[in-house]
Amino acid sequence: MSEPVLEVRFTERDAATALRSDVRAGLTDAPKWLSPKWFYDARGSALFDRITALPEYYPTRAERAVLAARAGDIAALTAAQELVELGSGSSEKTRLLLDALVGHGSLRRFVPLDVSEPALRAATAAVAADYPGLVVHGIVADFTERLAIPSDGARRLVAFLGGTIGNLLPEERAWFLKELRHVLRHGEFLLLGTDLVKDPAALVRAYDDAEGVTAEFNRNVLLVLNRELGATFDVTGFDHVALWNAEQEWIEMRLRALRDMRVHVAALDMVVSFGAGEDLRTEVSAKFRPERVADELAAAGFALRRLWTDDHVRFGLSLAEAV
Ligand code: SAH
Ligand code: AVI
Repeated sequence: MSEPVLEVRFTERDAATALRSDVRAGLTDAPKWLSPKWFYDARGSALFDRITALPEYYPTRAERAVLAARAGDIAALTAAQELVELGSGSSEKTRLLLDALVGHGSLRRFVPLDVSEPALRAATAAVAADYPGLVVHGIVADFTERLAIPSDGARRLVAFLGGTIGNLLPEERAWFLKELRHVLRHGEFLLLGTDLVKDPAALVRAYDDAEGVTAEFNRNVLLVLNRELGATFDVTGFDHVALWNAEQEWIEMRLRALRDMRVHVAALDMVVSFGAGEDLRTEVSAKFRPERVADELAAAGFALRRLWTDDHVRFGLSLAEAV
């Protein structure tokens, strides 16, 4: 087995600078917001992995079912020599793709990219151990910045799974897809997982589970701010809120202040006041209709070749070609 490479493009210093600027912008805005990328320290990534196994959180199981049914088709249609995975996390479901592409005989290299160094380090080590014939090259990077994915002439398939594209706001999503198209050559592929619009009650349950794991995941971002910026959030002073925004067709996760609070953020020399009942938006998770997926891909220069769903039509997996 060859040792996996871990290339750190988004260093701790970059993260510290970006976190400061995000927190200053988000906590001085009205309404207040934070970017979901700050959820994923080691504890946040572990909590996300627990979420994926919850009975209420169907997206991971639904996407896995589509991948299990279609990985062979994806390998045959793309004949990819390199699989790049954005927001790769544990890369667990990705093994279905790796198996199919290795079985097809085309795959040479796997390039997972994630903002969370601990998650990426564990995933690259596990994949390298289980796929000794593959070159594994992990990249710690922020996919909302300029995307510089390796290109040595190999035919690439870029996978963006889990519905993570829904965590971008519409304008960020459009920018991201254009940027991705720009770095791909004509004829290369994007495999995109999107959660689908469905009964709002089922959606809200998926983001407000009975065991409270999603609530812990949500509150974890405040612990990140306490640790990284010397903030004084009383984490127990915030309720976890998940609500369906019918107009935008997205789930919003918020943290709602239970009482008036003043929070000192030492690294920014800033005091942030919360009124009782005031919300801090921590994430949007957009849900899609198939027409919108096709339209947004087309607007960025991709042609939709296939859109598969699970048997219950809960989750969509699109294969699009750069044209
Ligand atoms: N793809 C996996 C994990 C989804 S969780 C799955 O389908 O289960 C979202 C992942 O995206 C996390 O691992 C998180 O660290 C990563 N992530 C979130 N924002 C990111 C960003 N801006 N740049 C790179 N990775 C990001
Ligand atoms: C990573 N992302 C697709 C998850 C989602 O469903 O939007 C993050 C998450 N938030 C709460 N639960 C899971």
